[in-house]
Amino acid sequence: MEISYWQSRWRKGNTGWHMDTVYPPLPTLWSRLGIKSDARVLVPLCGKSLDLLWLAKHSETVTGVDVSPKALHQVMQQHNEPFVQDSSHGFTIYRSDSLELWEGDFVKLPVTQIPPQDLIYDKASIIALPPEQRPHHAKKIIDLCNTDTQILIQTFEYNQSEMNGPPFSVDEQELQKLFGNQFELVCMREQSKLEELQQFKRRGLSSYLTEKIFHLTPSNRG
Ligand SMILES: C[S@@+](CC[C@H](N)C(=O)[O-])C[C@H]1O[C@@H](n2cnc3c(N)ncnc32)[C@H](O)[C@@H]1O
Repeated sequence: MEISYWQSRWRKGNTGWHMDTVYPPLPTLWSRLGIKSDARVLVPLCGKSLDLLWLAKHSETVTGVDVSPKALHQVMQQHNEPFVQDSSHGFTIYRSDSLELWEGDFVKLPVTQIPPQDLIYDKASIIALPPEQRPHHAKKIIDLCNTDTQILIQTFEYNQSEMNGPPFSVDEQELQKLFGNQFELVCMREQSKLEELQQFKRRGLSSYLTEKIFHLTPSNRG
């Protein structure tokens, strides 16, 4: 998926992945992770997800990254804080007290400019990318982690021959390959979604659709 593909979807308002609510499992997942209230959270490929605002309420700083200025402007309109605009390393950055939005290509995010994060929240994010882009995405996430960073990754698993992505099917084996050298992976939640997500049935999916949420913790943690 080229960046132009996503720009075009945003331009046309073709953003069927967007949820008009906070992702329902987020509050429960958050309480299970035991994240402190002064945490820093990074949201790659954030779109205009309302999760950004929920996370901003429950942590110290949230950093969202997306290529779409339209998405980030909509987030700013919904956030009750003034933003100042800045630029660095080819990114346009919008900063408020609790939210920082980086407009640009996630894999080019300058790691030295991003302080250590307590949580990287990857929802509808790695599954938005075709197979050849996922290793670069995963490497950037790993580069942004320190020895305390936890990661949440939401995935879908389905028979890829029945439907084209995005969202793509990403299974545990692939996540193990991408992250397993440095992280322990635990599946925190697993749910069949075929009946609920009828739009995927209309796109050809018929056998199964499983949503999973993985919790990754650094394997070298004391
Ligand atoms: C499927 S949407 C998910 C958005 C959000 N995570 C959510 O749950 O609503 C994928 C998003 O990734 C953004 N995107 C795709 N490739 C990107 C890249 N290389 N760097 C930054 N953002 C990207 C798109 O603009 C789009 O908003």
